[in-house]
Amino acid sequence: MVVTQASENFPTSVVNVVDHPLVAHKITLLRSIETGPAEFRALCGEVTLLIAYEALRDLPTSATSVTTPITDTESTELAGIAPSVVGILRAGLVMVDAILTLLPQARVGHLGMYRDPDTHQPVPYYNKLPVNIDRREVIVVDPMLATGGSAVAALDSLVEAGCTKLRLLSIIGCPEGVKAVHDAHPDVPITLAALDDRLNENAYIVPGLGDAGDRIYGTL
Ligand code: PRP
Ligand code: URA
Repeated sequence: MVVTQASENFPTSVVNVVDHPLVAHKITLLRSIETGPAEFRALCGEVTLLIAYEALRDLPTSATSVTTPITDTESTELAGIAPSVVGILRAGLVMVDAILTLLPQARVGHLGMYRDPDTHQPVPYYNKLPVNIDRREVIVVDPMLATGGSAVAALDSLVEAGCTKLRLLSIIGCPEGVKAVHDAHPDVPITLAALDDRLNENAYIVPGLGDAGDRIYGTL
């Protein structure tokens, strides 16, 4: 049984909750029990695009030059080898597609895990990561940060694979999940669209949006 806790305040160095009217509006639609799978998937993608803009603000860049139809000019490009987006299955897939529209060159990793319904602990079932992942900027995506168990397990796997440049992008989180990730991986910045109140006795986020995977894939 998960004990509910009062909300904690976290500095933006730990968690950045994107404060934007478009994000807030779309989160309301995502929360609604009236929203069906097609709209839910589209909204997850749109929110991911909006919060990724903030989450990726500090990607490293380098100077380059470009020839326009008018002249040559100095310009800027992303530095280093292609980043990697790593989706936690199933629900993270809907965010992977959105990140790929921003970073089409990104290499995609998949980490399959589901929460045991009784213990709420993540049960891993799949792991496929891009080559040279240890050299890449890695963006881990999963719509829900509840107990934090899945995110911590994913980050543990990536650290084990040698990754040092990690960030976590989720749509809805709660204090328990933020604390778990920060305790285990204090250097990993977390970006959210909403930081909710708490977990309930089934380790679901309150008010949350229910089971993200079921709502995305219509398996309710
Ligand atoms: C959901 C969600 C996260 C996890 C969050 O996945 O997509 O992966 O729960 O919970 P946690 O922070 O307590 O670990 P779920 O286990 O339901 O699997 P699914 O995506 O396959 O539906
Ligand atoms: N996983 C979900 O999909 N939703 C929650 O609220 C918690 C875990």
